[in-house]
Amino acid sequence: MMPQPWLDRRIQSLFPVALVSILLVGSVRLVLDNLKSNQSHIFQSYGKTDQSYQQRKPVFVSSADRFENGCNVFEGKWVWDNVTYPIYTEESCPYLVKQTTCLRNGRPDSLYRNWRWQPNACKLPRFDPLKLLDILRGKRLMFIGDSVHRGQFESMTCMLQSVIPDGKKSFHRIPPMKIFKAKEYNASIEYYWAPFIVESISDHATNHTVSKRLVSLDSIARHGKSWEGVDVLVFESYVWWMYRPTINATYGSPDDIQEYNVTKAYRLALETWANWLDSNINPLTQKVFFMSMSPTHLWSWEWKPGSDANCFNESYPIQGSYWGTGSSLAIMKIIHDIFQKLKTNVTFLNITQLSEYRKDAHTSIYGERKGKLLTKEQRADPKNFADCIHWCLPGVPDTWNEILYAYLLQNHQNFL
Ligand SMILES: *[C@@H]1O[C@H](CO)[C@@H](O)[C@H](O)[C@H]1NC(C)=O
Ligand SMILES: *[C@@H]1O[C@H](CO)[C@@H](O)[C@H](O)[C@H]1NC(C)=O
Ligand SMILES: *[C@@H]1O[C@H](CO)[C@@H](O)[C@H](O)[C@H]1NC(C)=O
Ligand SMILES: *[C@@H]1O[C@H](CO)[C@@H](O)[C@H](O)[C@H]1NC(C)=O
Ligand SMILES: *[C@@H]1O[C@H](CO)[C@@H](O)[C@H](O)[C@H]1NC(C)=O
Ligand SMILES: *[C@@H]1O[C@H](CO)[C@@H](O)[C@H](O)[C@H]1NC(C)=O
Ligand SMILES: *[C@@H]1O[C@H](CO)[C@@H](O)[C@H](O)[C@H]1NC(C)=O
Ligand SMILES: *[C@@H]1O[C@H](CO)[C@@H](O)[C@H](O)[C@H]1NC(C)=O
Ligand SMILES: *[C@@H]1O[C@H](CO)[C@@H](O)[C@H](O)[C@H]1NC(C)=O
Repeated sequence: MMPQPWLDRRIQSLFPVALVSILLVGSVRLVLDNLKSNQSHIFQSYGKTDQSYQQRKPVFVSSADRFENGCNVFEGKWVWDNVTYPIYTEESCPYLVKQTTCLRNGRPDSLYRNWRWQPNACKLPRFDPLKLLDILRGKRLMFIGDSVHRGQFESMTCMLQSVIPDGKKSFHRIPPMKIFKAKEYNASIEYYWAPFIVESISDHATNHTVSKRLVSLDSIARHGKSWEGVDVLVFESYVWWMYRPTINATYGSPDDIQEYNVTKAYRLALETWANWLDSNINPLTQKVFFMSMSPTHLWSWEWKPGSDANCFNESYPIQGSYWGTGSSLAIMKIIHDIFQKLKTNVTFLNITQLSEYRKDAHTSIYGERKGKLLTKEQRADPKNFADCIHWCLPGVPDTWNEILYAYLLQNHQNFL
């Protein structure tokens, strides 16, 4: 068993610092977005306005779109592919926030964009935005989670938007949500801010403290109202739990605040979530996914013994086996246990291991802090200022979405 992050004193002292500064970036980012373009409409086209878009073909999922049944797509390796990757560029996607556009922000190396995930036992289908739009016709796909998850949502909008012509797409910010719409398809891709999935004092998308947190482990109904009837729900929650070994929370009486062991609190929260699913999800019309934890690369000594840095200046993926202590196996075990008991059919996308290899793909010093790009002085101090939690786009979250896409195609027949 790997040690808990908080059992390593060195880590214990670093994880919180990194989390507070980085998570703050995420929330301030949202504030700025809102100020800049409350209810703004972006109708732009950077892609092709090709004929294929006009044709309304029925969705045809061929055998080439399916991976072999039983293949574990999460086991494999990253292979160099600068022919088909990246799927989009920073310039071609109008929806990327400054936090993720690493090249524009000055990152000198760009190789991180050119790796393709290759499962050992099968091939992932090539991402086809038109096919996904056909599958999502008249539907809503919603990402629910924290700022790492928001990156996955943004990646998805970038992967889809290039095939939608001018005037046929829109992007709205309506806190705590962001909504991308493909009008001719009546399809929407949405993001809902809920860093703990269950309710907490951090739920306000623009005004929440990061270091002070209080989670209502048994409350989810208020959030759940916004998730009702959504056709595809994709959940994620991890890094906000990991600030300290314990977390202030309530269970039962809202006045009875107690410090819970994080593992205990996480389990209770996921149970609340599971109960909500079991009494609200219609398995005939709704599909549910849960993403495993997104790894962090805060301590370079874990992959380069003797060093004392972080993900800064890392240009290549890790070769060979690797699992960082930031990805709690105790939390993984809880997820496993909850899934055993779930009545609802939830597809677990276990992207932790494949992302563990990608120490090269975080925003590092080429992101933001408190809503602003780092200053020269801050960049000169990567030990304190590198963000080794969030990911550059295009990048690793595109692969998570390709896997989500593969699963949506895989089960297409069962999917009403
Ligand atoms: C956004 O705009 C709506 C109406 O245009 C307004 O009611 C609301 O207060 C605005 N929100 C923010 C955060 O400015
Ligand atoms: C792609 O990678 C190969 C092998 O590293 C290299 O020779 C080639 O110049 C690269 N092509 C582009 C367009 O970067
Ligand atoms: C558009 O999609 C929504 C669900 O996302 C559905 O409620 C509505 O009926 C659809 N509208 C049309 C015209 O198909
Ligand atoms: C932010 O929240 C705090 C406490 O919840 C409140 O006192 C404060 O007025 C809020 N600030 C804004 C700008 O809404
Ligand atoms: C829990 O709340 C108390 C009182 O506000 C505070 O002193 C303590 O540090 C908090 N514990 C954690 C783990 O945040
Ligand atoms: C939290 O609970 C887990 C499992 O119940 C236990 O292994 C761990 O030691 C506890 N941690 C703390 C800080 O109490
Ligand atoms: C980055 O790493 C390279 C070697 O991989 C080294 O030569 C260079 O000095 C490093 N840059 C910084 C700013 O640490
Ligand atoms: C996810 O994958 C990792 C390694 O690939 C494995 O250790 C872990 O048990 C898996 N999690 C679950 C819940 O199956
Ligand atoms: C659960 O989902 C999987 C994959 O989507 C499917 O193969 C299986 O039949 C479903 N099980 C039930 C009980 O619906």
